[in-house]
Amino acid sequence: MTIKMTRRRILAASSVLAAGGALAACQPTTTTDTDAKAAPLKKDNAMSDNNTAQPLVIAHRGAPGYLPEHTAPGYDLAIRMGADYIEPDLVFTKDGHLIVRHDHYLSTTTNVADHAEFADRKTVKDGHEGEDWFSEDFTLAEIKTLRAKQAFASRNHAADGKFEILTFAEVIELAQRRISLQGRQIGIYPETKLPSYFASLGYDFESAVLSELSRVGWDAPGSSVFIQSFEDGILRSLRNKTELPLIMLLEKADGVDMKDIATYANGVGPSKALLANKDGSSTGFIEAAHASGLKVHPWTFRSDMLPEVFANAQAEFDFFFDLGVDGIFTDFANDARAALLARAARSG
Ligand code: G3P
Ligand code: CA
Repeated sequence: MTIKMTRRRILAASSVLAAGGALAACQPTTTTDTDAKAAPLKKDNAMSDNNTAQPLVIAHRGAPGYLPEHTAPGYDLAIRMGADYIEPDLVFTKDGHLIVRHDHYLSTTTNVADHAEFADRKTVKDGHEGEDWFSEDFTLAEIKTLRAKQAFASRNHAADGKFEILTFAEVIELAQRRISLQGRQIGIYPETKLPSYFASLGYDFESAVLSELSRVGWDAPGSSVFIQSFEDGILRSLRNKTELPLIMLLEKADGVDMKDIATYANGVGPSKALLANKDGSSTGFIEAAHASGLKVHPWTFRSDMLPEVFANAQAEFDFFFDLGVDGIFTDFANDARAALLARAARSG
């Protein structure tokens, strides 16, 4: 059987193979001569298959299956493993910088507890159970003294304490560097975390995100950028300010009105649990979203935390690809890319 592979798939396959060595050692990756020999940079950042049948591989928080989440080596590894997009979750520092963290509390993914000089910053906040340290109480300079650690106890902690916390600007720069080095498009998929909460503290999430994107010209229509949020308010407001695709994140199906979402967003990011019934049939969620013109990018695919029904990661990816998703958020971009390559090979 002849296996037809597009140039992009061949590049992706190379990335998967190149990433293998880094995975084996579970070490931070570095730029190599091999990276620099890749195809030339396209003129702009528009991803060619952004709206085609090939599901997008979105590197959820980087490559947290292997390295601490939201770190430069984690994002680099995910890209080398074949990710189309890298996902930075965003929160604010005290002095108004956007930094890349899943939570505004810092204890679970940084070594802040080891910093005696910050012991008195531990506090209680509305909406958070127990004491913690919070991003909005630290300047960027202080945040930069912290180091990231793995959030999940079951994962490899060899790189804990080694990598600094990134700003949103640094993630954009990283993606641009990788586009140039690898000669393929790499998008970014920022999530505004707790926008109402940060607005109540006086931070303007919309302006902060759009100005960072505008600085590098990635606010133009056709840029490989999705902006996501669990709060519809910021997306409705952003709709009047940008033509970039917006994604409404959904944890529950109750009360979801696809037609309404389609008035301000271009897609939905549901929990994968909303998409299929226990017997494997579709819940109709994907069909309803597509009927309203919305893309469907479910989360989160974790090869080390597979639902029992799937024998391996490829089986899970294949199931959801067959169901009709347009992209997936995964902690294991290598497994998603491998599943897509295997499908391409099977279909000839
Ligand atoms: O943003 C998609 C997915 O990441 C939502 O879950 O909690 O990991 O940000 P979370
Ligand atoms: Ca997220």
